[in-house]
Amino acid sequence: MATIAPTPASQGIQRPQVRREPSAYDALKAHFAEHPEERLRHSHPWDVSRSEIYAEDKWQPIFAEMRKAGQLHWIPESPFGPYWAVVGHKAIQHIEALPETFSSSWEHGGITILDRPEGDDAALENGDKRELPMFIAMDRPQHTGQRRTVAPKFTPTSIADMEAEIRQRTGELLDSLPRGEVFDWVDTVSIELTTGMLAILFGFPWEDRRLLTFWSDWAGDTELGAVRALDEVRWGILQEMAAYFQTLWIERTMDKEPGNDLISMMIHSPAMNQMSPEEFMGNLVLLIVGGNDTTRNTMSGIIHALDKFPDQRKLFEEQPELIPNAVQEILRMQVPLAHMRRTCTEDTEVFGQTIKAGDKVVLWYISANRDDEVFENPDKLDITRENARRHLAFGYGIHRCVGARLAELQLRVLLEELHKRRMRVHVAGDVERVRANFVHGFRKLEVEITTF
Ligand code: HEM
Repeated sequence: MATIAPTPASQGIQRPQVRREPSAYDALKAHFAEHPEERLRHSHPWDVSRSEIYAEDKWQPIFAEMRKAGQLHWIPESPFGPYWAVVGHKAIQHIEALPETFSSSWEHGGITILDRPEGDDAALENGDKRELPMFIAMDRPQHTGQRRTVAPKFTPTSIADMEAEIRQRTGELLDSLPRGEVFDWVDTVSIELTTGMLAILFGFPWEDRRLLTFWSDWAGDTELGAVRALDEVRWGILQEMAAYFQTLWIERTMDKEPGNDLISMMIHSPAMNQMSPEEFMGNLVLLIVGGNDTTRNTMSGIIHALDKFPDQRKLFEEQPELIPNAVQEILRMQVPLAHMRRTCTEDTEVFGQTIKAGDKVVLWYISANRDDEVFENPDKLDITRENARRHLAFGYGIHRCVGARLAELQLRVLLEELHKRRMRVHVAGDVERVRANFVHGFRKLEVEITTF
């Protein structure tokens, strides 16, 4: 479809055989159809780890009630164990500003509500680590060095260099969309644009770019990660991904001139010498998952939000200069990652509550972005909102999203190119949301295009 397709410098290295199905979604659905008794059960009314509230878009009143009662609450039981639900904007910023007290380390359980599965310690002793350490799940000083390795790819200058290419790809895709016909925006536009961007970023074989989505879905689903029976297939798929990337790694190592792609940058960076092969793979997975579900779901969120708030769509159509702020506002409303998690390392007090060493602390960005102490009328899309930038969709502090500028650029370009073509996208059919408590977004969004 797109004319710009990177041609990797192939050295004739054979790519490994990899599975391309079943999708994570189909595997989970099939498992629960066969074992309905294994569906996760949530007894506490404020246990916001229940994925149906996101699938059915019913989370807003629950979080509103929780925020009214305080910044954070102890949830004594959930299928993911007991945890603190941090729901206030202030408390999340406070906790993220104390990375020593609130660790991100995978050794404590990492950055999602899902813990390392029990029994992994035994696997560890057998040398089967089943861990891909990545810098999002590391503390200082390791985190600092590894983040520095990839950060140069995301500086304002590097990002600006990518703009023309992103614009051309986006424009070509928009021009190819069907008119007078209902189609799925998620698959045709959101997935296509995000996987294409990642393929370019990694110098990933263009024809295989949908593998990035396939792997990202298997790696990033917390509910699927909680189903022990799917451990083997999940781990097998991630190993295939690692093997595939290994061939790219070998190719890039053999390149005479270091390339400008992320894999080459990682290979040639001094911090790389400190990384084990598992860490290298882990960080690749991080970049794939980090850049995939997130931007994809914001691209769908944009269309859904503008359709739901026609007054804002009119403003967007009449005043394209509002686009940069509209991007911030849509990130605030959509929140592609509903939460991140920390583990407390020493007893401490936060907004009147005592958090104990070892407690799991879940930061619900999805709630913070609707906190009416910060955002007036928070459930309304307002593309003129003056403080939209204060959203926490990218997190806060030392782990704040390294890809934020790239994501913002992709989203701005999408809106600008839609505007340039005077395209109006209507929701015109099924809307299906992701059933998960971590990735927050759309599985399907049927739309039809008209003009304004
Ligand atoms: C709308 C799009 C995106 C959203 C909402 C998003 C969200 C986030 C969030 C919430 C965090 C954790 C922040 C924290 O713990 O405080 C994060 C970290 C990260 N993101 Fe993104 N992200 C997006 C796009 C991207 C892209 C395009 C990339 C790269 C291709 C990326 C790569 C990363 C990486 C590597 C980290 C780890 C940073 C660290 O630990 O220092 N993200 N992102």
